[in-house]
Amino acid sequence: MNFDESIDRREYPTLKWSKSFLEEHFGNAEAIPMSVADMDLKAPPAVIEALQKRVAHGIYGYEYRPEGYFEALLDWYRSRYGWEIEREYLEFSPSILSAIAILIDQHTDEGDGVILQPPVFFEFRMVIRSNRRKVVKNPLRLVDGRYEMDFADLERKATDPKNKMMILCTPHNPVGRVWTKAELAQVAEICERHNVFVIADEIHGDFTFPPRQFVPYLSVTESENAAACISPAKTFNISGMVDALAIIPGEAHRQQFRDFAHRYQINKTNVFASAAVEAAYRSGGAWLDALLRHIQGNADFIEAYLRQNDIGVSLIAPEGTFLAWLDFRALGLDAKALEKFLALEAQIALASGYWFGREGAGFARMTIGCPRETVRRAFDNLTAAVEKLRLREKP
Ligand SMILES: Cc1ncc(COP(=O)(O)O)c(C=O)c1O
Repeated sequence: MNFDESIDRREYPTLKWSKSFLEEHFGNAEAIPMSVADMDLKAPPAVIEALQKRVAHGIYGYEYRPEGYFEALLDWYRSRYGWEIEREYLEFSPSILSAIAILIDQHTDEGDGVILQPPVFFEFRMVIRSNRRKVVKNPLRLVDGRYEMDFADLERKATDPKNKMMILCTPHNPVGRVWTKAELAQVAEICERHNVFVIADEIHGDFTFPPRQFVPYLSVTESENAAACISPAKTFNISGMVDALAIIPGEAHRQQFRDFAHRYQINKTNVFASAAVEAAYRSGGAWLDALLRHIQGNADFIEAYLRQNDIGVSLIAPEGTFLAWLDFRALGLDAKALEKFLALEAQIALASGYWFGREGAGFARMTIGCPRETVRRAFDNLTAAVEKLRLREKP
């Protein structure tokens, strides 16, 4: 488990590292790629071994998800989070976003509002709009360097009967909050009272830094007007291979989801995904614990770096995820100028804050699931660019 090993990802058509992607989005094919949320490190050894074994078998015909797959998944959630998932609640989907799109389609009508908490993962907005629903914002508030939910505003938004759904990002991408049981219970209470269907996107659930603990949304509510989406994709860095799961407690809702999956034939599995996921959930615990220490170490490194080098940048301390939400507002650049400055002068490709909603302007998200050396290079570049900027600005 050497998370500091430098691995060439350009050998394959990796989105994050491809020169055409960097050129298109950042105007700089040489920028250090830190925008896409996958990690520059190898999957757990148990996953690699399971795949090698499966490849060696040589026959890759139709399969079903084996019993061991379910046992490993249910054990993972039971042993790590004390969450007993009812096996019959599980439905499959090719990705988290497709599960969200199906749930939007089934629980809202065209023109209805879907509540989001920006700054938040930008694809939520896209999937809401492409389904011809309206984004309704319940912005997070930054209070003393930590983001909080605005419950009074959520109550107001939930009161409008047109707003039938909320997508909750838990833990939160990009701000790195790990929502507490009390916060989640308050969301559940408000949404239940107003009949708002909650989709809890828990793809980052396994990334919490002790003593913070991941609290599964469905463990704080009995409501059938809710679903959780989970996936091993981020946890084990296998996002190019696996599908996702929706956990749907309401029987009628579940049947509706299943009917859709049958209608569009999206319920097939992939032999490699099954092998990888079973191995990951069965044997990946110690690897994940070590990974979390590495990512926390990267965040600590950034904190220390910014303490030692006064460059007008600060880190919103992450409680989880493998993402660093950086505050550049003190540089005094507008959103577009900041984006250009980072890509062209600092030569780092970060996800611009305004992509996550205008509430993110002045910030940027850096993926820190990578060797420490990559983070160090990024901050050295940034420091040099800020020094040049300050020289230019001097009268
Ligand atoms: C919060 C969140 N949800 C969903 C996704 C995408 O998941 P999928 O590829 O399974 O649709 C991401 C990826 O970055 C994410 O951060």
